Amino acid sequence: MAKALILYYSRTGNTEDMAKIIADELKAKGQDVSLKAIKDANLDDLEAADGVIIGSPTYYGTMAAQVKTLFDESVKIHGKLDGKVGAAFSSAANIAGGNETTILDIINAMLIHGFIIQGDPKGSHYGPVAIGAPDERANKECKRFADRFAKLLSRINI
Ligand SMILES: Cc1cc2nc3c(=O)[nH]c(=O)nc-3n(C[C@H](O)[C@H](O)[C@H](O)COP(=O)(O)O)c2cc1C
Repeated sequence: MAKALILYYSRTGNTEDMAKIIADELKAKGQDVSLKAIKDANLDDLEAADGVIIGSPTYYGTMAAQVKTLFDESVKIHGKLDGKVGAAFSSAANIAGGNETTILDIINAMLIHGFIIQGDPKGSHYGPVAIGAPDERANKECKRFADRFAKLLSRINI
């Protein structure tokens, strides 16, 4: 079965809560998934996964430095992530506080690696966002996001 990997950075727990909701939903769908804080992840983890979901708090409208550092290190395996499935999510303090630009920045780096990214015509087009801790709306969006990710992964991993 295809392997999904969720990586996140979280200082105060909000992005981590989103990561756990997404991981639980993937598990509920029967998906093989591992969940790791970014500090515990390495390049082998990225290479071993078929699908990678990355979560970051919104920091000045972009990903946290810890997430960017992993991307910068990933130049060592540039070309080896081509064709994997990618997706991103974020927690921010404010609506329109830069959460979409944060997700797009993560997706941008993923595209340069050759990841396949699926948008969503409904709800959270780029990926789920929470304002602070995930509320009922964010919870629902995280679950929908996980369901769609699992479906895409199973379709691509023939
Ligand atoms: C350095 C720093 C920069 C931040 N920049 C933004 C920002 O640009 N927009 C925003 O809405 N929230 C911003 N925040 C708030 C965090 O995105 C928000 O508190 C988030 O929920 C934290 O996630 P975490 O609990 O996973 O650490 C910032 C917080 C910090 C510490």
